[in-house]
Amino acid sequence: MSVPPVIEWRAGAVRILDQRRLPDAVEVLHCTEAAQVNEAIRTLAIRGAPALGVAAAYAAALGARRIQAPDGPAFLARLDRVIDDIIATRPTAVNLAWAAERMRSAARTPAGAPASEVRARLLAEAHALAADNELRHRALAAAGAALFAPGQRVLHHCNTGPLATAASLGSALGVLQAAHQRHGIEVVVSETRPLLQGARLTTWELAQREIPFTLITDGMSASLMRRGRIDAAIVGADRIAANGDAANKIGTYGHALAARAHGLPFYVAAPMSTIDFALPDGDAIPIEERAPQEVRGYAAWRWAPPDAPAANPAFDVTPHDLVTAIVTERGVHRPPFVDTLRRQDAAAAPADVRAA
Ligand code: MRU
Repeated sequence: MSVPPVIEWRAGAVRILDQRRLPDAVEVLHCTEAAQVNEAIRTLAIRGAPALGVAAAYAAALGARRIQAPDGPAFLARLDRVIDDIIATRPTAVNLAWAAERMRSAARTPAGAPASEVRARLLAEAHALAADNELRHRALAAAGAALFAPGQRVLHHCNTGPLATAASLGSALGVLQAAHQRHGIEVVVSETRPLLQGARLTTWELAQREIPFTLITDGMSASLMRRGRIDAAIVGADRIAANGDAANKIGTYGHALAARAHGLPFYVAAPMSTIDFALPDGDAIPIEERAPQEVRGYAAWRWAPPDAPAANPAFDVTPHDLVTAIVTERGVHRPPFVDTLRRQDAAAAPADVRAA
């Protein structure tokens, strides 16, 4: 099956593969306004931290094309509102705000350019960000491939493949793909309640790549670890604090606790754009609260009374002491992360990634 790109710029519009419909239908949203991209982000038509960064960049480029303003300062003031709206769509994945802020500064560097030049510059910046995202994920996958031994059964939560990253390999799933190509591994896919990114999206991506997998419900992981049927775990992340505390899809923390209880390694894989050095630890990571009806049912199905009180935090934070290593495009970082992440951030320029 030929699968459309997760996100692309074509003929002055942003085209987004609608992930809400997968795996049953392959449909593409055609966005001609930044507000349409914002809605696609809010409703998870496009999702996953690195993919949200790429979407934010294209939304800003799209929004800039619609701005009519009498002069440069008025143009930039309106662009700021467009960018603020993009940032307000979802709070946890730092890649979204990181990319949007990169677009804000691209519009001002150098200062004083006419609107037509700023518009062209923003589109070039969005393309550059998308290309850079691809390179970084390739380097990340290669860096983590040796973490797993031949034949190991590796637990994976949520979705971290091309759909979540807008990159051909993905983050944690890219590592698993690279490990499988080297010497064969198996993936244990947790379904990822309530929006089923594991069951709907990760299984779909693994099947396309002919990587063997078994789907489980989120609550099965501890028991399977105890019975020796899971050897290790790897997840992505939506925001990692400077000390290595990692926010990821709700349910991740439970898998990490179970891995620790059974003496299994627990890895986190994400590009450096997911690391928020402004936050010393995970306590200040904003956790998105989504609508309770997402817990009562999915799509046309409902399995709880329509008014059943329900909580829906979309993410949790795994404390750094449960994390064996963090894989980025810079390599495999071991504790203490507060030192190893910071050193990497300062040490390597993007050119090093291109050489990798
Ligand atoms: O709510 P989502 O689907 O945008 O959740 C984000 C994720 O896909 C995961 O938390 C993922 O594990 C990290 S992002 C590659």
